[in-house]
Amino acid sequence: MVVVGISGSPRRKGNTEMLISEVLEGVTEAGGEAILFSVADGDISGCTGCMRCRRVPRCRIDDRMTLIYEAVMRADVVVFGSPVYMGQMSAQAKAVVDRFYALLNNDETPRFQAGTRLLPLFTQAQADVARYASYFELCDEMFTQMGFEVLPTFVAGGTHMKGEIGTQKALLASAREMGREMGGYGE
Ligand SMILES: Cc1cc2nc3c(=O)[nH]c(=O)nc-3n(C[C@H](O)[C@H](O)[C@H](O)COP(=O)(O)O)c2cc1C
Repeated sequence: MVVVGISGSPRRKGNTEMLISEVLEGVTEAGGEAILFSVADGDISGCTGCMRCRRVPRCRIDDRMTLIYEAVMRADVVVFGSPVYMGQMSAQAKAVVDRFYALLNNDETPRFQAGTRLLPLFTQAQADVARYASYFELCDEMFTQMGFEVLPTFVAGGTHMKGEIGTQKALLASAREMGREMGGYGE
């Protein structure tokens, strides 16, 4: 099993990256292959709308998305995480989503493996994890439309300061367990 984590937080080793890392640790514990990308490492531009990816199956922009494209093409599961910023995903996470356009054919079928699963994951300061449910539903629909098999959204609430998620031991344990299930799935 190949599981690709993408952290859409510009805060390196922040709550989102910590939560994704916990899932990925579970994946490797179960014998799967885990790869982590973070927008905090920089060098991911927004889509310029050049439409080259409508003619050839690749993006004109050669930045770190090139590595993310390659990883998503071989992934069994993508863990896509973002902090909630003003009720939505971060701008950096949205840039990655827009660049996913190059993973779609003109008839909107995916260029990645059929059946690739995607786990949407959010961290937020609000303790009420249902607070942004309608937005998370929109994200689910968008990823489904892209051709992913979307897993139930994983939300961590009450995380404000950097690393604060570290105190939520039960939540981290459930993230790790989810990773173990992913890592051993189908083996
Ligand atoms: C610009 C900005 C906007 C935010 N907007 C919200 C928000 O609308 N709702 C919320 O619950 N938390 C909001 N937060 C808090 C973050 O979602 C939260 O602290 C998250 O865990 C940060 O994740 P990170 O450590 O991975 O960056 C915001 C934080 C920032 C910096």
